[in-house]
Amino acid sequence: AQPVIVAIDGPSGTGKSSTSKAVAAQLGLRYLDTGAQYRAITWWMVTNGIDIDDPTAIAAVAGKPEIVSGTDPANPTITVDGVDVSGPIRTQEVTDRVSAVSAVPEVRERITELQRSLAAAAENGIVVEGRDIGTTVLPDADLKIFLTASPEARAARRSGELKGADLHSTREALIKRDAADSSRKTSPLAKAEDAIEVDTTDLTLPQVIECVVTLVEEKR
Ligand code: C5P
Repeated sequence: AQPVIVAIDGPSGTGKSSTSKAVAAQLGLRYLDTGAQYRAITWWMVTNGIDIDDPTAIAAVAGKPEIVSGTDPANPTITVDGVDVSGPIRTQEVTDRVSAVSAVPEVRERITELQRSLAAAAENGIVVEGRDIGTTVLPDADLKIFLTASPEARAARRSGELKGADLHSTREALIKRDAADSSRKTSPLAKAEDAIEVDTTDLTLPQVIECVVTLVEEKR
């Protein structure tokens, strides 16, 4: 069979990661979390004292860290210069800064190149999740999904994940990050013209997974 390339985009809290991982595992495909890559380069910038408010400073060192993503959906690892950063990339500090770092064109160029080479190396195919996969990274993907959900549903899911986080501030932070991601100049968060939009507000995770699996199978 031909490798199948699936692009899953959408704002945070729509179930992108859980859905993408499960679909890849069920169908024997590789999996790539591109948000983790942007978080990893952000973690490196923070750790090395780079001024996050200075795009020129970020651009100057964008090529420095070596970022390696594992693409097994059962164990999606991520390392920066050989250090496992799966934990540290999920901190509030990184989450609050990732939109600024990922808006820098030099950062996007670098990470996009990594994403394309990982997709090309996936023998059976791959599920790639992010914000600009269908529009910019893999415009020839076999299937493009755009996941949405109401801000209330997204905030509720996120604060559930963060355990004990306040719903109101989670909602505000999430809306702020999505606005930054959608309004940046270089490959903003956007639905590709040929993407299928799935509103997950009133769906359970198993329902979303089943819906996407069916769509992939139709393409195979
Ligand atoms: O998906 P996640 O919330 O981990 O993504 C973190 C951030 O990485 C996003 O808010 C966005 O700024 C950036 N990102 C991006 N392009 C992608 C994936 C993530 O700019 N394809």
